[in-house]
Amino acid sequence: MSSTDESVTILAIETSCDETAAAVVVNGREVLSNVISSQIDLHTLYGGVVPEIASRKHIEKINQVMEEALKTADRTLADMDAIAVTYGPGLVGALLVGVSAAKAVSFASGIPLIGVHHIEGHISANYIENKDLEPPFVCLVVSGGHSHLVVVKEYGEYEILGRTRDDAAGEAFDKVARAIGLGYPGGPKIDRVSKVGNPEAIAFPRAKVGDSPYDFSFSGLKSAVLNYLNSCEMKGVEICQADVAASFQKAVVDVLVEHSMYAVSECGMKKFAIAGGVASNTALRSALQAACDKRGIAFYHPSPILCTDNAAMIGAAGYYEYRKGVRHGYDLNAVPGLRLGESR
Ligand code: KG4
Ligand code: ZN
Repeated sequence: MSSTDESVTILAIETSCDETAAAVVVNGREVLSNVISSQIDLHTLYGGVVPEIASRKHIEKINQVMEEALKTADRTLADMDAIAVTYGPGLVGALLVGVSAAKAVSFASGIPLIGVHHIEGHISANYIENKDLEPPFVCLVVSGGHSHLVVVKEYGEYEILGRTRDDAAGEAFDKVARAIGLGYPGGPKIDRVSKVGNPEAIAFPRAKVGDSPYDFSFSGLKSAVLNYLNSCEMKGVEICQADVAASFQKAVVDVLVEHSMYAVSECGMKKFAIAGGVASNTALRSALQAACDKRGIAFYHPSPILCTDNAAMIGAAGYYEYRKGVRHGYDLNAVPGLRLGESR
C-alpha cells in the first residue's frame, strides 16, 4: 500500500439499481458531498423496480448528479485523484450508465478509474461514521438483492461465511409488504407498521439451512405468510396488518441475529457491523445492539442514509482499492452477477 500521508479525493458514482448517485469522498472517510437522485416514486407506480425505466432515468440524471456532487463539495474535476464507480452486481442497464459516465470522465480528464463492487461499498459505508473501525470484523450485509455474512479480513479482503439460498432479506420484506397491502418499498413500511403490532401474534417459522449455520433462507417464511393470509381469507377472518408485519419482521430479525452472533463467536471477533438497506430496520438494529452488548462486542452501523444505495460508500471502498494500487482500464464493463472477492 502507498503512503497514507497523501490526501486522496475521489469522485464516486453509483447507479446499480434505482438511485442515481455521486459523491466526493476524501481518504475514504470524509464525505464532502453525497448526492442521491432517487427514482423510487416512479417505480412505486409499478410495485417494484422496472429495469428499463431505471436505465433511462440514470441517463437523464447522471451528468447533473455528478456536477452537483462536485459543486456541493466545492471541488472541481481537477481536484480528483480517482473516479470510482460501481460495476456490479446490479441491473446491467443501470450499471452501464454509471460505468460509461465514469469511463468518459476518466478518459477525458486522465484521472484514474477504479471499478468498485457494490457490496464492498455497502460494507465500507461503516468506515464513514466510525472513524475507529478497522478490519478484521464480521459484517452482515442485508439488502434488496443480497444477504451475506462476511468476515472482513483486511480492507477489500473478504471471506464469505454464508449467504441466502433463495430470497434476499429485503426481497422478503418487499414481497410480504405487497401481500399485506402495504405496497413498495416494503422494508420501511413494515418497519413502521410493526411498531404498533404484536411480534408474538403469529408463530412464523425460523428457517434453518441444514448443512450451514451461516446460510439464510427466506422463501419458506414468505410462503408461510402467504399461507396464513390465504387461510384467513378462506375462513373469512380479517387480518391485523400490524400483527402480521411485526410477526414476520421478528422471524427475520431472530434468524439474522442468531446467525450473526454465531459467526462472531465462532470467528472470535470483537467487532460486528451491518450494511445494506435492511440494516436501517429499527427492530434489527436494536436486537443486534442488545445481542452485542450482552457479549461485549462493539456494534457498528451506518446511518440510514448510508445504508441504502449511495455513492459515498463507493468512494469509501474505492479509496482502499486505490491505496492497494487497483486501477481499471477503459475495457471496464458492467458485471451484473459480480461476486464478492471476484473483482479485479
Ligand atoms: O441496499 P439497498 O438500498 O439496495 C440494494 O442493493 O438492494 O436495499 C434496498 C432494500 C429494499 O428491499 C428495502 O425494502 C429494504 O432495503 N429496506 C428495509 C428498510 N429500509 C430499506 N428493510 C427493512 N426495514 C427497513 N427500515
Ligand atoms: Zn445496495
